Amino acid sequence: MQVIHTVAELRQALVGRPNAFVPTMGNLHEGHLSLVRQAKAASQDGPVVASIFVNRLQFAPHEDFDRYPRTLARDAELLESAGCDYVFAPDEAELYPEPQGYKVQPPAELADILEGHFRPGFFTGVCTVVAKLFNIVQPRWAVFGKKDYQQLMVLRRMVAQLALPIEILAGETTRSEQGLALSSRNSYLSEAEREEALRLSRTLKAMIARWQGGERDVAAIEAEAMAALQAAGWAPDYLVLRRRLDLSAPAEGQPLVALAAARLGQTRLIDNLEFM
Ligand code: PAF
Repeated sequence: MQVIHTVAELRQALVGRPNAFVPTMGNLHEGHLSLVRQAKAASQDGPVVASIFVNRLQFAPHEDFDRYPRTLARDAELLESAGCDYVFAPDEAELYPEPQGYKVQPPAELADILEGHFRPGFFTGVCTVVAKLFNIVQPRWAVFGKKDYQQLMVLRRMVAQLALPIEILAGETTRSEQGLALSSRNSYLSEAEREEALRLSRTLKAMIARWQGGERDVAAIEAEAMAALQAAGWAPDYLVLRRRLDLSAPAEGQPLVALAAARLGQTRLIDNLEFM
């Protein structure tokens, strides 16, 4: 496996080789490695490329850009063990040699709700860096985790609308034995918070059980889930039931997803569960 820091060297290494790509911000865990293994299975003997770049454009000024863990040496070891062939780890001056004035602006109906409502500009930052990485890596396949459910939808739509010749593959969320969705931000949690964090997926399960039990007052299900988390000391942004197709209000007989974002202490966690 080779760690490459410049666009020119990466292009040189990949020329004429269809590759499978896993974009990340580093501080990797088993969830990322499962995406790398999925990329390897898809790549049909072509190389697997992972990028590690903490993208300033998708962080608001009050968010954790500065304290986001940078763990390149450990990440590279893990990527090698998962079968990655190239790690692209540019510094900021390499990826943004001048202020990134051209941006990819996703449509409001998908990008200004839920995550985008609470993190204005987040999906513009994500789409811009991913489009730029796609232009550099020119993958045939790209793998994104369902853990970032809305991000996956926004990027799928971007690839379709811009007619990029890339197949987007969705990776299932990897969880701890107790059910906590793995996330780079879990490393911010104390032992006690890590235990408490399990409440998020349990609350989503309780919401789903109510829907599956026949309740259709979605506003009440959502409000009571918010109240339950608040009572346990969390600061929830949203707990919602939505259609998988476009994240609109749930409808009978449609594939659905329950999504949550909530702050536990200093750490903002997201999770989701698909259901019918
Ligand atoms: O999901 C992430 O880690 C990031 O949003 C991504 C896709 C690597 C873009 O910076």
